[in-house]
Amino acid sequence: MSGNPRVGVDLRVEGLTKEYTSSGYVVRPLDDLTFTAAAGELAVLLGPSGSGKTTLLSCLGGILSPTSGSIHLGDVDITTLKGSDLDRHRRNDVGFVFQSFNLVPSLSARENVAVPLLLRGEKKRSAFERADALLDRVGLADRAGHKPSQLSGGQQQRVAVARGLIGDPALLLADEPTANLDHVQAEAVIALLRELRSEGRVIVVSTHDARLVPVADRIVRMGSDAEASEDPPTVVEYTAGETIVRQGDPAQLVYTIEAGEVEVVIELADGTEEHRAVLGSGRYFGELGALLGFPRSATVRATTDVRLTSYNPSDFREMVLHEPG
Ligand SMILES: Nc1ncnc2c1ncn2[C@@H]1O[C@H](COP(=O)(O)OP(=O)(O)O)[C@@H](O)[C@H]1O
Ligand SMILES: [Mg+2]
Repeated sequence: MSGNPRVGVDLRVEGLTKEYTSSGYVVRPLDDLTFTAAAGELAVLLGPSGSGKTTLLSCLGGILSPTSGSIHLGDVDITTLKGSDLDRHRRNDVGFVFQSFNLVPSLSARENVAVPLLLRGEKKRSAFERADALLDRVGLADRAGHKPSQLSGGQQQRVAVARGLIGDPALLLADEPTANLDHVQAEAVIALLRELRSEGRVIVVSTHDARLVPVADRIVRMGSDAEASEDPPTVVEYTAGETIVRQGDPAQLVYTIEAGEVEVVIELADGTEEHRAVLGSGRYFGELGALLGFPRSATVRATTDVRLTSYNPSDFREMVLHEPG
């Protein structure tokens, strides 16, 4: 089915950063993100709302320009494309599927799927033939003449997937495609996306739903749900008054206190602090965020000079489980 010579190429994202300035402060939803997805793989972007999933998909699709970093599809860095080359990338290399389906209500399923081809001047007859073949591919051959309002949400999303494939793209991008679907319909859409990757495309699906993890060939964790540290245990020292972990920051390490004392405080919205605890030698802190992937829930500050050992979550887990007492 694949006539596009680019189908079968890998996606490589390196050091991708996107900054927005909004009402005076900088938001950086993408901060030095690196991942690859090989041809024929389904990559899942997993992260909560606001973690930069749509921003990343927009950069991959060439509709948003990153602040820095590169996106290679095969040997082409799409962040460097301009003008007609960029248009060609958007038109030929990328298919989009949206959370809200975005079908044209007055058009039949067949017409909706064919729209991208008709817009670029292809003959109706061949465009409809290809649309029918794709509707068959997504299991909707018998619904080609139906309007979106006559289809279930899951069926509409499968029409949208067929439309995303009509240009035979190397890269199919789906932004929370199951968010508006019930469980059964969501499963059908995911099963379809999984099947489609075997055609040599790279499929990138964003979601906040960890239930999609088992179907992915790759998981790209977005936002503070960052890649777990694999650093070995390391001794670190702080002087009295220094902040060791900051409330709200991404949590990656757990600390044990070898010598000295720290205090745990909660920073309140009005700028004041609530004192929670003083911890001394032999105690540990930071385990909740690091083990569960939550941001730091408190600030921890050295009250004397302290010596700590930092552990990544898996080493920490092992140490706690294996040490007697
Ligand atoms: N055009 C924009 N201008 C300023 N900030 C933006 C813009 N688009 C997105 N953001 C901010 O970037 C962050 C990531 O947004 P988004 O990529 O939509 O995340 P997600 O899709 O994971 O919910 C959010 O904090 C959002 O407010
Ligand atoms: Mg989004």
